[in-house]
Amino acid sequence: MKKTEQIKQISKLIKRIDTNTNVDAGCFYENPTSRYTDQALAQREWDTFFCNSPQLVGLSGDLPDIYSFFTVKELGTPILAVRDSDGLFRAFVNSCRHRGVVVEEEERGTSKRFTCQFHRWTYDSNGTLVGLPKAEHFGELESERKGLIELPSEERHGLLWVHPDPSGVIDIGEMLTDNLIEELESWDLQELEHLGNDSYDVACNWKLAMDTFGETYHFSSLHEMTLHNAFHGNVQCYDTFGNNHRMLLCRRDIDEMRKLPESDWDITTAALPVYWLFPNVQLMPSKEGLYLVRAYPNPKDPGQHRSLISFYLRPHFSADIEMREVFRMMSQAFGQIIRDEDYAVGESQQITANSKAMESVIFGRNEPALHHYHSTYERVLSEIGA
Ligand code: FES
Ligand SMILES: [Fe+2]
Repeated sequence: MKKTEQIKQISKLIKRIDTNTNVDAGCFYENPTSRYTDQALAQREWDTFFCNSPQLVGLSGDLPDIYSFFTVKELGTPILAVRDSDGLFRAFVNSCRHRGVVVEEEERGTSKRFTCQFHRWTYDSNGTLVGLPKAEHFGELESERKGLIELPSEERHGLLWVHPDPSGVIDIGEMLTDNLIEELESWDLQELEHLGNDSYDVACNWKLAMDTFGETYHFSSLHEMTLHNAFHGNVQCYDTFGNNHRMLLCRRDIDEMRKLPESDWDITTAALPVYWLFPNVQLMPSKEGLYLVRAYPNPKDPGQHRSLISFYLRPHFSADIEMREVFRMMSQAFGQIIRDEDYAVGESQQITANSKAMESVIFGRNEPALHHYHSTYERVLSEIGA
C-alpha cells in the first residue's frame, strides 16, 4: 500500500477511535435466510462461481521450485497445479486420459512424474504422457490424447489463478480492477513462503463463513478473550474495488504508533488489511506474512462447506527458526479462533436459517462489507441468469 494511502487510512482509524465512530453504510440491509439454505440457489452459485469462474488456487510460494506441485479437490474439476520443467506455472485436469482416475492423490510435493495407479500411465510436469505400459497391446493413441487436459492458468503478482473449464478465460484486470492489482503488487506476495494449511469442514453455508470476516463489531463480544486483546472492536476502514473490497481492522498497536511522526507510521502496525476477493477469498497480509482463507460450498448441501486456511511467511523471516515457529503457532491459533468462535456462530446461524423461523437477517450501518458482498452476489447471479 502506498505510503500516502497508509497515512490517510491510519488517520481515519485514529479519528474513529477518538470520536467513537465507525464506517457507516447509512442504512440497513436485509438478507433473506433462504440465501443460506436454498438448494436450487446452491446449484446456481456452484455452477456460476466455482465451475465457470477463475479460481485463486494459491500463491507463488505454493510452488517454490521446478517440479513442485499441489492438488485442488474442493472444486468440481480435480486440478493438478505444477511448476513445469521451465519454471512456469501450469494447471491440468487431474484425471488420467485413459479412464479418468485421479492421477495425483497427494496434497502437495515435488515430482517430475505423475503416475496413475490404475494401469500406470505416466505424465511429466508438462502434462505429456511419457509412459504407457504395454503400448503395443493397448493401441496407437492420437497425439492430442497423449497428455493431461490443460486448464487456463495465470501467475500474476504472486497469485495463482486457474479456470476450471478448459475453454474458460482468465481476465485478472476485470476481476480485481487496476487499483486493487496495484495495491496487491505492493505486498510482494510472490516472495512469500508457504508454511502450512488447515482445512475445516463446517456445518454452515460458505457465505456464512465469509460473512464472519465482514465486520469487527463482534470483536468485543465473540472474541472478547482472543482477538479483542489485539484489536479495537467496531473500528475499521472500508473501501470497494469493483466486486471486491478491503477492510482495515484496527490493531491496538496503533495507540503507541500514533505518538510517532507520520513518516514512521506503518499500516501493518496500525491494522490488519483484509482483502475480500469476490466471492470466496480473504487475503490478510501482515508484517510477518499472510493468511489466506477460502470457503468452498458443498453443492449438494447448502448447510455444509469447507474452509481452507493457508499461511505464508515473509522471506526475511525464512532463516529464523524461532520466528518460523512463532508464526506457525500464531497462524494455528488464528485458524482455531476462526473455527471455534466464528464458525461456531456460523453453525448456529445455519440452524436458524434451516428452521425457516426467520425470513431474513439484518446487516447494520457498521457492517458495510456485508451490504456490498451480498448485493454484489445478487447482482452477479441475476446478470448471469438474465
Ligand atoms: S485409468 Fe489411468 S492408467 Fe488406466
Ligand atoms: Fe470473527
